[in-house]
Parts: sequence; structure tokens; C-alpha cells
Amino acid sequence: MRVAVIGTGYVGLVTGVVLADMGNDVICVDNDPSKVEKLRNGISPIYEPGIEEMIRRNLNDQSIRFEASIADATQASEIVFIAVGTPPGEDGTPDLTAVRAVAREIGKAIDKYTVVVNKSTVPVGSGDLVENIIAEQGVSKELFDVVSNPEFLREGSAIHDTLEPDRIVIGAKKREAANKLVELYAPLEKPMYITDLNSAELIKYASNSFLAMKISFINAISRLCEACGANVSDVAKGMGADKRIGPLFLQAGLGWGGSCFPKDVEGLIKVAEGLGYDFELLKATQEINTTQTLHFLGRVEKRLGGLQGKKIGMLGLAFKPNTDDIRDAKSLVLIEEILNKGGSVHAYDPVAQENVEKVYPQIQYADHVFDVAEGADAIILVTEWNEFKQLDLEKLGSKMKNRILFDGRRVYSRASMEKAGFEYYTIGQAQ
Ligand code: UDX
Repeated sequence: MRVAVIGTGYVGLVTGVVLADMGNDVICVDNDPSKVEKLRNGISPIYEPGIEEMIRRNLNDQSIRFEASIADATQASEIVFIAVGTPPGEDGTPDLTAVRAVAREIGKAIDKYTVVVNKSTVPVGSGDLVENIIAEQGVSKELFDVVSNPEFLREGSAIHDTLEPDRIVIGAKKREAANKLVELYAPLEKPMYITDLNSAELIKYASNSFLAMKISFINAISRLCEACGANVSDVAKGMGADKRIGPLFLQAGLGWGGSCFPKDVEGLIKVAEGLGYDFELLKATQEINTTQTLHFLGRVEKRLGGLQGKKIGMLGLAFKPNTDDIRDAKSLVLIEEILNKGGSVHAYDPVAQENVEKVYPQIQYADHVFDVAEGADAIILVTEWNEFKQLDLEKLGSKMKNRILFDGRRVYSRASMEKAGFEYYTIGQAQ
């Protein structure tokens, strides 16, 4: 099928490349000429394992093109995806400026029946908004339909998640429009749920908020574990074995971050507010997430007798492994607090360092993982990159002032750390 994808951010680029790989003719559009130029040369503007190989393969096969004109791409396609950013506005409500602008451009260009698909995360009712904007450009209602097709991919495993989704959600007013997407996704052979527009939009918010709530729940339990001497991993395993609960997203840690959970939880609270419902459960979910990080740092502070003059080694800066994304990363909260309390930070991350350097040029960055240990009063493990999982503990410890490790992601076992002469502290386990 002939497909246009507007926006080459995480969602747009991965969607476009995967659809091209499935044999469709894809045009990806971006209004940033430098991005388009890079992509034409097979260079990805985002860090995602496997994406560049896939871009290059499809450029070679001529199944994908990168362009700047929404109008040309719309006229060349039967399905047009809107995959532009919807960052939180000042009051937390998603800012739909980019979605509106793109809808206008599409509306001006439509010259034959086109299915316009909203893949950006948008508040309930945005399908109607896009429909109205397109109609305002003078397009008759028979010439287009708007469909909501939310995206559930995770950074770091985005290609796999797009090729192997648990489900595909398609919200539409007319079955005929939904069927276009059913046809597009049929080769994936995955369950498809066809709903009305509002339900599809709500499924996205509800899913992400539920997952964030699940993590906040186990993080709240981790505090109880620390207080009563239980072990949160054992509690999570025991809970997760119940099929009704499930074992995934029960990993206690420093809390959730990234480009989706914080924005979508806040977004759903605002959507609810607009609909006259005070979503207190989600407010508590946010609150637990904020205090979880500060509580952990409080333990570091207590052990070191304050942070004034203390040198903290930091392993990992990205909000999770396999990405250079630092949006709402817990590392940022920790750096800010440590600096405010008079401490210093020496950090290492395999790919996210440059991004943090733009925000915190004043901290020290390491070339090698072991450098963070140099003279450190303690090390905090913030992101569970694979390369941090089997460190030579003797080498690490030998460079430190004190062999103290605060494991914010429960990567190590107390036994292995103590064997290497470390004092070991982790989430959800009393010292
Ligand atoms: C998430 C959703 O999973 C995805 O479906 C949606 O499309 C976008 O948002 P992503 O933000 O890429 O994906 O990362 P994810 O792997 O879900 O992790 C989000 C955050 O939760 C990370 O900070 C991670 O460290 C944290 N997390 C995740 C936990 O603390 N514990 C867990 O058990 C799982």
C-alpha cells in the first residue's frame, strides 16, 4: 500500500521503516531539513538498536523515501499517518499545535479518498478535532476518514514491538476506514481491536497509566520491604505468578521516566479533569514516583552523613537501558539534588552522556565505566545497562574511597557484592 508518515520522531520513524520493510511504499516526512538529509543518507536522528540497518536496506530497495512536503506525500498516498509530538503544555495538557498544523496541511492537499491516521498520543476527542480541521480546508466528508491507531512501542525494543505487538488498536467511525488499516497490518498476524475513536484514544492513555501505576505500586511495596525486612523481588515474583497480576512491570527501582509514562499519566489526569473526574489514583501514582527517587537518595545521604563534599559515582544516565533518551530520567533528579546538597558527580553512560552534558556541563563525565569509581565515596547504579551487570567488582572497588554501592535497579545480589567487600544497599531490601 502507499503510505505517508508525517513526523520522523520515535513513533513516526519506526512505524515508517517497519511498514516499508513489510513491502509498502512509504514516504516519511519531516519539516526539519537536516533530519531529512541525514535520513536520506541512512543516518538515524534517534538512537534505536537496528534502525539504521533497516533504513539503509529500505532506501536501497527504494521502498522508503524521506521528504519535506506534506502535500506531495499526502497526494502520493492512500493512508497518511500523523506521528508528530504532543509534548505537555504548561498545565500538563498535551500541546496539539503540531497535530493541528499537520492536519491543516493534509486537508489542503487531499485530492482523492484518504485515510488519515492519528498515531500521536492525543486526548480523547482529538479524532474529531483532526476531522474538523481537514473539513475546514474544504474537503468533503466522503473524501477522507480519520482513524486512531495508538502506538505501544517501547524505546530500545521499538522495532520488535512494532513487528510483534500484543494487539493493534484501530478506532474509527466507519468500518470501511478501519478495514484499510486491517489490510495494512494483516501480514503481522496479530489480534486487532476495532473500536470507536474515543475508545482507541483512551486505550493508549489507560494502558500507559496502568503500567506506571503497576510500577508505582511495587515501588510503594519496596518501601514496606525496606521497613520490615522483606525482599521486594520475592514479593514481586510471588505476586506476578498470579495470572491476573502477571510478572511484567513489577521491577522495583528508582521510578519510571521517559517520554511516555510521565506525559501520559499527567495527560490522563487532565483529560479526566476536563471530564469532571478527579483521578486521585493517578495523582498518587505520580507522587510515589517522585518520592521514590528522593527516598533512595535519602538513604545515600544518611549512610554518608550528608552529601556536602561527597563524590558520587553514577552508573547510567538514560531513563532506561538501550536508549540515549534522558527525558524525565531519574539521573537528572539525582544530579540536581546531589549538587544542591554540596556533593559532586562523576557519571558514565554508554550513549546518553552527551545529552546530559548539555543540561549539566558542571559535572564530570567518564570515558570508561571504571573511571566513576576514582575516589568515590559511593556509587549509585541508576540505569541497568547490560555492561553494568557483570562488572569486575574488585577493579571497581579498588579505585573507590569507600566500597559502597547503592543499586537503584536491583542488578546485583547482596551476596556477590559483600563477597567483593562492598557495603550494598538496594531498593526494597533493608540493609
Ligand atoms: C512505554 C510503554 O511501555 C510503551 O508501551 C509506550 O508506547 C511508551 O511508553 P518506554 O517509555 O519506551 O515505553 O519504556 P518502558 O520500558 O515501558 O519503561 C518506562 C519506565 O518504567 C522506565 O523508566 C523504566 O525504568 C521503568 N520501569 C519499567 C520500572 O521501573 N520497572 C518496570 O518493571 C518496568
